[in-house]
Amino acid sequence: MRYASPTMSDARHILVAVAWPYASGPRHLGHLAGAYLPADIFARYHRTAGNRVLMVSGSDVHGTPITVRAEDEGVTPQEIVDRYHSQFLEHWRTIGISWDLYTTTGTENHAEVAQDVFLKLLENGYMEEKTTDQFFDEDAGRFLPDRYVEGTCPHCGYTDARGDQCDNCGRTLDPEDLIDPRSKLTGTTPQLRSTDHFFLKLSALQQPVADWLATRQGWRKHVINWAQSFVNDGLHDRAITRDLDWGIRVPLDNVGPEKRIYVWFEAVIGYLSAAKEWSKRVGAPEAWRLWWEDPEAETYYFVGKDNIPFHAVMWPAMLLGYGGLNLPTDVPANQYITFSGEQASTSRGVGKSISYYTDRMEPDALRYALASNLPEQNDTDLTEAELDRAINQELISTWGNLVNRVLNMTWKNFDARIPQPGRLTELDRNLLESIDAALVTTARQIEAIELRAGLRTMMDAAADVNVYLNATEPWKLAKKDLERTATVLHTALSAINGIKTGLYPYLPFSSEDIHHWLGQPGTVRDAGWIRTVVTPGSTLVKPEPMFRRSELIAPEDD
Ligand code: MF3
Ligand code: ZN
Repeated sequence: MRYASPTMSDARHILVAVAWPYASGPRHLGHLAGAYLPADIFARYHRTAGNRVLMVSGSDVHGTPITVRAEDEGVTPQEIVDRYHSQFLEHWRTIGISWDLYTTTGTENHAEVAQDVFLKLLENGYMEEKTTDQFFDEDAGRFLPDRYVEGTCPHCGYTDARGDQCDNCGRTLDPEDLIDPRSKLTGTTPQLRSTDHFFLKLSALQQPVADWLATRQGWRKHVINWAQSFVNDGLHDRAITRDLDWGIRVPLDNVGPEKRIYVWFEAVIGYLSAAKEWSKRVGAPEAWRLWWEDPEAETYYFVGKDNIPFHAVMWPAMLLGYGGLNLPTDVPANQYITFSGEQASTSRGVGKSISYYTDRMEPDALRYALASNLPEQNDTDLTEAELDRAINQELISTWGNLVNRVLNMTWKNFDARIPQPGRLTELDRNLLESIDAALVTTARQIEAIELRAGLRTMMDAAADVNVYLNATEPWKLAKKDLERTATVLHTALSAINGIKTGLYPYLPFSSEDIHHWLGQPGTVRDAGWIRTVVTPGSTLVKPEPMFRRSELIAPEDD
């Protein structure tokens, strides 16, 4: 692994690619903890370490989740898309998800890029046209997209499997695989009718994908195991067009306007089209190549576990078939967040909306509670009591109170200025060295996408400062030895200054505040991933408590 260097010329190019949420309904905390927050933590770390990050995603505006909802509500698909896209933008702003570009798959640029990939795969021989049988609903008089067919999963017997995927065992399906299929439109048994479609020849790409997967190192066990067993089960050619009136047109003259590119095929192309759109917007239309064509560039896909097949197998297969573009460095897919045992799913009405929480919690408090519970290796159960506990007993008691206490003591005893330290004792030096070591450890953990562990390292460092204060007791010292008090408080402020950098990817808002309170120039990111010494003499801003107590569960319910 190459490490970040402070000189820009050695900066690594890191593409942070994040799952495109369907603009079909509200997102919940599970989505936030599954993909958006981890991606943001990773991106903020790399930017601070001096690397060139491109973090992109957007709303997935096609696909049946959107048309199903539009039909239910009696509005156009575009109205549904506009409503949820603006809701997502609001979440990203409130929670501080720091996109370089958050776009949609509804742009002209995306359609062009998706059509280019389609044609290139056709030209490279990885696509073929075949006549197939597709389910047709006689009562509704139309072909049924995959998600409009439901039935029993042939693999696990789950009775509510959808035509594209079984939510119980996670396998991707074709509608014909379902036992006892039924139409979602009318509930009748659909009939197979023949229609022409384009197929992606995944069978021809199976070996290249298997060979590539074998070269992957450091992937999460559950991700690599899933991807490899999926490939070893055998990749079958898959239809990538549909008879629909909502989606991107097939770019060929001899097919009718009702043939559209299947949403899954085009949505993953969003990572590439968004990089191109960003390049155009910043006035460097070729810049996307630095992340997509330079073999030294790194690409990380932050997705939930239901998206593993598409990001660890299908999209790599498409990229191999296209040629010349970088494949994923890693797909650090997360497991599920459950709420008191039930999988958080807004479609099933489990778990409250994101706004419910952002209305009641400071963004950093919410980020802390989720980051300390990220489902990195296992499904993780979350309760409101746990959110309260993480914030009150960890974030506030270990970190918030520490910052407040040290700033207040300094403010009171040294005339609102950072004092001049005397000679450091071994105790002082040890503390500062342990903070520097913790920054290195957290960097290594974030690079390995062990984000929970990276946060823990920094909170342990904060606990070390509390231990140091209990040993030195500056509140007592101040009454008899102001010179030693100055050294102790200066040391504690320097330690806090370092920890604030290590916590910045997780708690960007409060870390910027501390940076400012400590009289540091510019932003945390400008300062870089190091502990800088706080300058004696600089004026402190009057400190305020950093976080409010979290009371999702009313105190009387405790
Ligand atoms: N919108 C889909 C989902 O939420 C796909 C997301 S990832 C994409 O599951 F890259 F394919 F768009
Ligand atoms: Zn199943």
